[in-house]
Amino acid sequence: MTIQKLMVIGAGQMGSGIAQVAATAGLQVIVHDIKAEFVEKGFNSIKKNLSRDVEKGRKRQEEMDEIVSRITLSTDLTDAKDVDVVVEAVIENMQIKSDIFRKLDEISPPHAILASNTSSLPITEIASVTKRPDKVIGIHFMNPVPVMKLIEVIRGLATSYETYAIVEDLAKRMGKTAVEVHDFPGFVANRILLPMINEAIYCVYEGVATPEAVDEIMKLGMNHPMGPLTLADFIGLDTCLSIMEVLHEGLGDSKYRPCPLLRKYVKAGWLGRKSGRGFYSYP
Ligand code: CAA
Repeated sequence: MTIQKLMVIGAGQMGSGIAQVAATAGLQVIVHDIKAEFVEKGFNSIKKNLSRDVEKGRKRQEEMDEIVSRITLSTDLTDAKDVDVVVEAVIENMQIKSDIFRKLDEISPPHAILASNTSSLPITEIASVTKRPDKVIGIHFMNPVPVMKLIEVIRGLATSYETYAIVEDLAKRMGKTAVEVHDFPGFVANRILLPMINEAIYCVYEGVATPEAVDEIMKLGMNHPMGPLTLADFIGLDTCLSIMEVLHEGLGDSKYRPCPLLRKYVKAGWLGRKSGRGFYSYP
């Protein structure tokens, strides 16, 4: 099966990025969210990104127009009735994801693959609410989606080889490289990345160094494109905390305990770039 029509559930930073790369790869894309204003916001960010490509001479205006014309907007989940693949990219909440997958399983055609962009929640558990666990898979894009080359593809316990092969082919068409991992807490990307970020937060919490100093050390000393605290603000501190909690609970080792300063910031509503304040301020 070749994927022709893809639906993205959740038009936030990740969902809109996924819609952009899928439409750029020539797929018909439906962008869905619960409110029209959320869908519009996601669509505007796609158009903004594509316009920048046109301004910089990386795309022609006609190409942009074609890409945009392949995107339709939706607030109705029943629009999943004739899609080949759905990529869910809503908040990291198992209850919400389970509800969505249960509904999608009823609405979408039997051949459709149901994928989650979850950054750490178990794919096997999400699949268990459907009658097609062989067609449920994790497609974990990295942020910013249009730029990052990796898709971490997570096989749940029952995910079939056929489903994996279709997703691997889809990743290639979107100009990405799929890397296969199995379903364990945090998968691989976040199992390695988040403890580093958490440790960087401990360095600030314990007064070892300022956020600026920690970031400078990792940028200049390790050649990271962003320091870990700038990256934490970029990912969202609520998402960072939720991934650390999944690692801590799922792997049961105290080395994964979330830093109290991370908890405090999240409780204060300091969620990073998206809320205007995290380790840094974003006026
Ligand atoms: N959306 C689309 N394109 C973007 C973008 C965005 N949000 N941000 C940057 N870009 C593109 C632009 O095309 C830009 O080029 P132009 O300015 O010519 O248009 C190009 O990237 C380079 O951007 P900048 O020059 O502004 O800045 P930069 O060179 O520092 O690169 C970066 C920006 C690519 C984000 C880089 O800093 C980087 O790689 N940072 C690390 C990102 C990272 O680690 N991501 C993984 C996060 S973890 C995750 O996603 C998993 C999870 O589950 C939490």
